[in-house]
Amino acid sequence: MHKNEAMSIQGKNVMITGPTEGIGRATAFALAERGARLHLLCRNPTKSVALRDALLSSHRDISVELYLADLGDFAEVRRVAREFIDRNEPLDVLVNNAGVINTRRILLDNGQEQMFAVNHLGHFLLTTLLLESLKRAEQGRVVVVASEAYRFCRGIRFDDLQWHRGFSAFPTYGHSKLANILFARELAERLESTPVTVNALHPGGVRSQLGAQNNWYAGRILALVKPFLRTAEKGAETSVYLATSDEVTTTSGEYFYDCKPKKTKPSARDREEARRLWELSARLVTD
Ligand SMILES: NC(=O)c1ccc[n+]([C@@H]2O[C@H](COP(=O)([O-])OP(=O)(O)OC[C@H]3O[C@@H](n4cnc5c(N)ncnc54)[C@H](OP(=O)(O)O)[C@@H]3O)[C@@H](O)[C@H]2O)c1
Repeated sequence: MHKNEAMSIQGKNVMITGPTEGIGRATAFALAERGARLHLLCRNPTKSVALRDALLSSHRDISVELYLADLGDFAEVRRVAREFIDRNEPLDVLVNNAGVINTRRILLDNGQEQMFAVNHLGHFLLTTLLLESLKRAEQGRVVVVASEAYRFCRGIRFDDLQWHRGFSAFPTYGHSKLANILFARELAERLESTPVTVNALHPGGVRSQLGAQNNWYAGRILALVKPFLRTAEKGAETSVYLATSDEVTTTSGEYFYDCKPKKTKPSARDREEARRLWELSARLVTD
């Protein structure tokens, strides 16, 4: 048994988004080692099959199900949520991990800016669709991989979520991560009368593929900071802790770093902003 953990994840259903690289991949391997039944939401079919093969070759007794969706495509998110719901099984843990950072503004076909759509809206939709499955678990958990980058913005831009004005990589990325934290807070409020918990986290600065699709200049900056970053395995520790530890069975609506609660700035604790964001997000992902 691992430090501060219970054996209880053995045989439990865990869905992870973005498991093909970085922190998500390390989370998938760590939970496979603990015997979880993995449900992996990936966007790249080839990488998803390679990942399943790698997991099954190192952990023979586990089960790995693949779900293919781009989180920026809400119809695809609805389809994979339905695929899980049709299994008629509880969902014990949902790890909202997938993320993207862009140095240029990308508008999706649905009119949303890509970082806000993938990092926040797609996960908002996935989680709300899977709530009944989470409630059927003995003690369902939602783990939201956010970031200290939420500090790069002042608050939610209710008048311009698509960043028509003032797009800049870090503030826009940080805005989507602030949305992650506010989402976790509001969801925790809404689930108060249930055993389901939801907590957000910062994984630390991690050596991963985050931002690698950007231009040469961004790549050079990444290469410069790489030696100072932690490994994906270290970055996954708080996700794994929140997914498995007995210490957090009743902890909800918190923000963690290195497996400990961390106080956030007031912008990430604003109840009214969290409620407004929820209502607006629900409208933006409507069919
Ligand atoms: N790295 C850091 O220093 C750091 C710091 C703070 C927070 N975080 C957060 O940690 C999380 C994981 O990031 P990482 O560093 O591990 O990044 P990464 O190595 O780039 O991995 C990101 C994962 O998300 C998937 N993904 C990206 N866009 C997607 C989309 N549209 N639909 C579905 N899946 C998508 C990627 O799939 P593909 O393999 O198909 O690209 C990949 O599996 C993110 O939420 C990020 O914001 C990272």
